[in-house]
Amino acid sequence: MAKATVEAPSNIAFVKYWGVEDIDRAIPRAPSLSMTLRRCASRTTVAFTPDADTDDTVLMADAEGTLHPADDGFAEPVVQHLNRLRTWADRPGSFRVATQNSFPAAAGLGSSASGFSALTLATLKALDTWPDAATRSALARQSGSGSAARSVLGGYVAWPHGDNHAAEPVAPHTHWDLRDVIAVVETDPKPVSSREGHQRAPSSPFYEKRLSHLPERMQTARASIAARDFDRLGPLIETEGVELHLITMSSQPPIYYWKPATLKVLEVVRAMRSDGLAAYATMDAGANVHVICPPEDEPQVAARLDSMHAVHMVIRDGVGPGPTTDVDPL
Ligand code: PMV
Repeated sequence: MAKATVEAPSNIAFVKYWGVEDIDRAIPRAPSLSMTLRRCASRTTVAFTPDADTDDTVLMADAEGTLHPADDGFAEPVVQHLNRLRTWADRPGSFRVATQNSFPAAAGLGSSASGFSALTLATLKALDTWPDAATRSALARQSGSGSAARSVLGGYVAWPHGDNHAAEPVAPHTHWDLRDVIAVVETDPKPVSSREGHQRAPSSPFYEKRLSHLPERMQTARASIAARDFDRLGPLIETEGVELHLITMSSQPPIYYWKPATLKVLEVVRAMRSDGLAAYATMDAGANVHVICPPEDEPQVAARLDSMHAVHMVIRDGVGPGPTTDVDPL
């Protein structure tokens, strides 16, 4: 039996992936760009028994760290992805998977990105194969979580709308220390999966218009990261965070990921800017708000979010180096 453990972080998109050309292969309609986080991560141990024909086992750790059999909603996509990787590597056998998240799952905090990135990388290691970064990214993406393609890399990462659709590095985490102060206003699973949301996106009358802006936004994001220009990057981050939700709310049928608390946090972030803090908000497919800021403003941003009644919990995260194998097995 071969065994491997990988911890992979979540990521927060500055330019959002929303809408697919091919849902099963996760070919995006548009490019995206994100910052890989440091603390919000999934740790996954994969054990592989070659030639065994028993069913795969999928375990999930509870809040205390005790492993339990995962429910079907979690286990099914994991087993589907294991099948994909088994076929890709052409290695018959059976897997035992155990996973633990350091943050609430399925609430728009990117647990599928970190989870499927960790699963893909730990499985490849357990199979004793380590393809190049583009292939690792492409394999992670095919899990059904497109944004997992970006979580196999650290720092700032682009997922271009190109031929091979693999994520590529934009800058390492050491290039620019940005923080992500996450205002958790909701820990329940999101009402509509992003898989469904991607498919509804083109039904929004504003979707084609959005697509037309993205090449220029990608260029601006890349240039402002290269120049460490937060005055330029910040407004783009917030425009993208809001525009994703304009598309979801105007899709047919509409999807409302925001809660009243989301708007309250957005108002406080605008007030922070009036008070001279460099803080810009973005939301993925969920109600929680990621407030991106430079390190010197992080303590004040965190304190102001923490003092809000509407905020259950504040997670202080920031740009990180990407997946690691330097962790204990589960
Ligand atoms: O990774 P998916 O397929 O679950 O899609 C999520 C996409 C967003 O998080 C909403 C945006 C992004 O680019 O990460």
